Amino acid sequence: MPTPTNKGSYPEYLRLKELLSLQSGWKENEEDISADELHFIIVHQSFELWFKLVISELTQARDTLDRSYVQETEIPKAVHHMERAIETFRLMAQQWKVMETLTPQGFLSFRDELGTASGFESKQMRMMEAIMGDFWVDGKKIENQLNEKSIQEVVTKWLSRTPIQGSLPDDSNDDKIVEEFVNEYLNIHLKLGEKAARTLSDNDSENISNKFEEVNKQASEFLKPNGKCDRSRTGLLFIESYRELPLLSWPRKLIDTMVELEEAMLLWRSSHARMVERMIGRRIGTGGSSGVDYLDRTARYRVFTDLWGVRTILIKKEALPELKNSEFYSFVGEAND
Ligand code: HEM
Repeated sequence: MPTPTNKGSYPEYLRLKELLSLQSGWKENEEDISADELHFIIVHQSFELWFKLVISELTQARDTLDRSYVQETEIPKAVHHMERAIETFRLMAQQWKVMETLTPQGFLSFRDELGTASGFESKQMRMMEAIMGDFWVDGKKIENQLNEKSIQEVVTKWLSRTPIQGSLPDDSNDDKIVEEFVNEYLNIHLKLGEKAARTLSDNDSENISNKFEEVNKQASEFLKPNGKCDRSRTGLLFIESYRELPLLSWPRKLIDTMVELEEAMLLWRSSHARMVERMIGRRIGTGGSSGVDYLDRTARYRVFTDLWGVRTILIKKEALPELKNSEFYSFVGEAND
C-alpha cells in the first residue's frame, strides 16, 4: 500500500511549519522573546508579505502596459492589478493600529536590541517605490538605486500615443493638430481665469489678477515645456477633459486608479508617521534618520506628478474646445449608427 503523504494538505500547501518557525530567528528560542516583541516581529513580517504581493501586482500592471501598442482589452487587466495593490495599501494603513497596541514603554524595553535595524533597510519597500517611478519633492528628484522600469515610465509612453482630436502621433499633420488643440485650450483657460479675476477682484485687484496670470503661465509650461507641446501631457489632458467618450473610458479609469494607488500609498506613509510619533515622539530613528520629520517628508513625495498636475489646469466641460472627429472615439460598431 502506498504511504499516504501530506502533499496538498493545508499546512503543506502554506508551508506553515517553516512560516511559523520564523519568529525566533536571531534569538535561540521563542521563549526568549517577550509577548511584545513577538507582536513587533509578526506585524513587521506580515507587512513584508503584503509588500511581496504589492510588488507582484504592480509588476504585472507595468508589464501589461509596457507594449508599443496596448490593446483596449488589456487596460482592465492593468487596472485590476492596481486595484489589488490599492486595497493592500488600505489594509496596511489599518495595520498600524495593531502596532499601536504596543506601548512606548513596551517598545523601549527591547528597542536597544534592534541596533540600527530599521524599515529603512526594507528592500521590498525600495522595490515598490522603484516600480511606481521616480519620486519628487519640492522640485527635486529622490534617487532610487534600483534600475527598474517603472509604471510611470510606461504610462507616459502610452499617454503620448493618445488620439488627440482624432489624430495619432504617426499621422502626417499630427504636430499641427496637437498644437492647435493646446493653443485653443490655453486661450480658453486664460479667458476663464481673467473672468474669475474680475469677479473676485473687488478688494485686491492687482494681486488677484497676478495670481491668475501665474496660473496661466503654469498651465502653458505644463503643456508646452520649452515652447513645444508635450504629447503625453496633452494626451492626459484630452482623456481627462473628454472623459465621457466611450473609447476613453478605460484610459480614464486607468488614470483614476493610478491616482488612487498613489493616494493609498501616501495615506499609508502618513499613518506610519503618526504611529511612530505616538511611539517614539521626536526621537531619531534606529535607522539614523530624523524620525518623524523624515517620515512626514516622505508623505510629500509624488510619483505621478503629471497626473496630479493636470488637475490644476482642468476647465469646465461646457468651455472645452469643440471635439473633432468624434466618431473616432465611439465603440467599435457604434461609429455608423
Ligand atoms: C514601533 C514600531 C515602529 C517604529 C517606532 C518605526 C519607526 C520608523 C522610523 C523612525 C523610520 C525612519 C527611518 C529610521 O530612521 O529608522 C521608519 C522607516 C520605515 N519603517 Fe518603521 N517603525 C515602526 C514599525 C514599522 C513597521 C511595522 C513597518 C512595516 C514593515 C515599518 C516600515 C518602515 C519602512 C518601510 C520605513 C522606510 C520608509 C521610507 O524610507 O520611505 N515600520 N520607521
